[in-house]
Amino acid sequence: MIVPDIIIAVDGFSGTGKSTLAKLIAEEFSFLYLDSGALYRGVTLFAQENGYIDGDNNIDLDGLKAALDKGLDLHFGSDGKTYIGDRCIEKEIRSLKVSSSVSPIATVPFVRAFVDDKLHYFGRNGRVVMDGRDIGTAVFPYAQLKIFVVAKPEVRAQRRFDELAAKGENPVMADVARNLEERDYIDSHRETNPLRRAEDAFVLDNSDMNLHEEIVWTQGVIQGKFGILE
Ligand code: DC
Repeated sequence: MIVPDIIIAVDGFSGTGKSTLAKLIAEEFSFLYLDSGALYRGVTLFAQENGYIDGDNNIDLDGLKAALDKGLDLHFGSDGKTYIGDRCIEKEIRSLKVSSSVSPIATVPFVRAFVDDKLHYFGRNGRVVMDGRDIGTAVFPYAQLKIFVVAKPEVRAQRRFDELAAKGENPVMADVARNLEERDYIDSHRETNPLRRAEDAFVLDNSDMNLHEEIVWTQGVIQGKFGILE
């Protein structure tokens, strides 16, 4: 199936499988995949390592702002992984420690502006699929295709648990579920660009779907929307 040069926004709560779907779309249609959450996670790791946020999530806003203004070379490498300078931070940014502080960091307006600038730059050539919380509503409100992914809470918690376990962490299910709940609340209640479904987004509930069914669903949506016959 030939897909036109469009921007595809994939939004939803944590653990709904947005990034898995977005990566599949990228592979299937030869799109560039951009994980906006990875940039929020990168800023969070940077803040933690440099003392701009403490264990109770108190943020030194002035210090962090000055550091970002000075320039933080946070980017995606040609291997698709996340880097600060030439240091790959992919493993660190997926830890529960970073997950526990990323939502508070993502509420900070100058952090969002910093990440949005990078996303606009990385996505400037189109033919890109980007996943996050506010891609279809704020970052690329003119995206030609918007997908809002939802899944049952217990399915989401199990997915996050399996993901952490596969990475060699020792997750406790109650902690994983609590972290998801807290992030849902913060992500959807913050003042700047909270998580919400764009009115023109297609909703995908993938609780009981496998990856093949998800991509078939996506193909159907694209065919319907762009009048593609096969
Ligand atoms: O998708 P993720 O779990 O890696 O995202 C990590 C956090 O980053 C999430 O809790 C909220 C924030 N985020 C955001 O506020 N806006 C986005 N577009 C992407 C992520």
